[in-house]
Amino acid sequence: MRPRILMCPPDFFGIEYEINPWMNRARQVDHEQAKQQWRDLNQLLTSLGVETPLLSPVAGLPDLVFTANAAMIYRQQAIVSRFRHPQRQGEEALDAAWLLEDGFAVTQLPKTSYFEGAGDALFCGETLLAGYHLRSDAPTQQWIGELVGCRVIPLELVDPYYYHLDTCFCPLAPGVAAYFPPAFDEYGQRALRELIADLIPVAAEEAQSFACNAVVVGKHVVTNTGCPGLHAALRQRGFSPVDTPLSEFVKAGGSAKCLTLRLDGEEAAAWKYYP
Ligand code: ARG
Repeated sequence: MRPRILMCPPDFFGIEYEINPWMNRARQVDHEQAKQQWRDLNQLLTSLGVETPLLSPVAGLPDLVFTANAAMIYRQQAIVSRFRHPQRQGEEALDAAWLLEDGFAVTQLPKTSYFEGAGDALFCGETLLAGYHLRSDAPTQQWIGELVGCRVIPLELVDPYYYHLDTCFCPLAPGVAAYFPPAFDEYGQRALRELIADLIPVAAEEAQSFACNAVVVGKHVVTNTGCPGLHAALRQRGFSPVDTPLSEFVKAGGSAKCLTLRLDGEEAAAWKYYP
């Protein structure tokens, strides 16, 4: 089966508010460049055999491009996000409508929950690694684990620059993942070391280039430029890393993985190989 990844063109992308430390309204996006970078990422994924259905962009929702935050997908279920910041809450209904139309069984969380989808919820096999504190909340993550019937490992995110789990952790294959250790507390670092046999630490400069924010398609791993150390570590392990410039999206605190939502299962991305 062809991998499917939801993307949203950056027609209305920009820095209109500041909800993470990367965002600064005085540092605006170059729109032409953003569109080019997004098209290059989309074409790269297509060249890897990925089908990329599109969510229609909407004026006034500049972060809708970051489809990783639309929902958490588990088989045919979509658990739609509840954004912490009011600036992004207008995305929720659009995400739910698209996923319903696409045939997912859509679960809406109570309005009092905070949950930011695949940005904070990544599968390692049947274990759900769940980032909490800065965006998603821990009780909601536990509840989702019970709903889909899998174990949850809560990981507190302690550095505001790494406010989503997918900015500091990336599952790559069974027993293999990359992470930026200082984004986690002691407990979280230990939990990851115990769970994942081959845990690749990413250096601070590369974490800042969003090295951990990688899109995994079988053995191919797509990142922003500026991640040579991680790419070398990946090549040693038999992966084929590819980079593509995503500087305009880094201005909003996002990169490759944030711009994508795996629809045929997050676990399918990293934990099964496509030939
Ligand atoms: N500006 C967006 C926010 O702060 C960026 C989201 C990036 N997405 C991600 N999955 N890390 O919410």
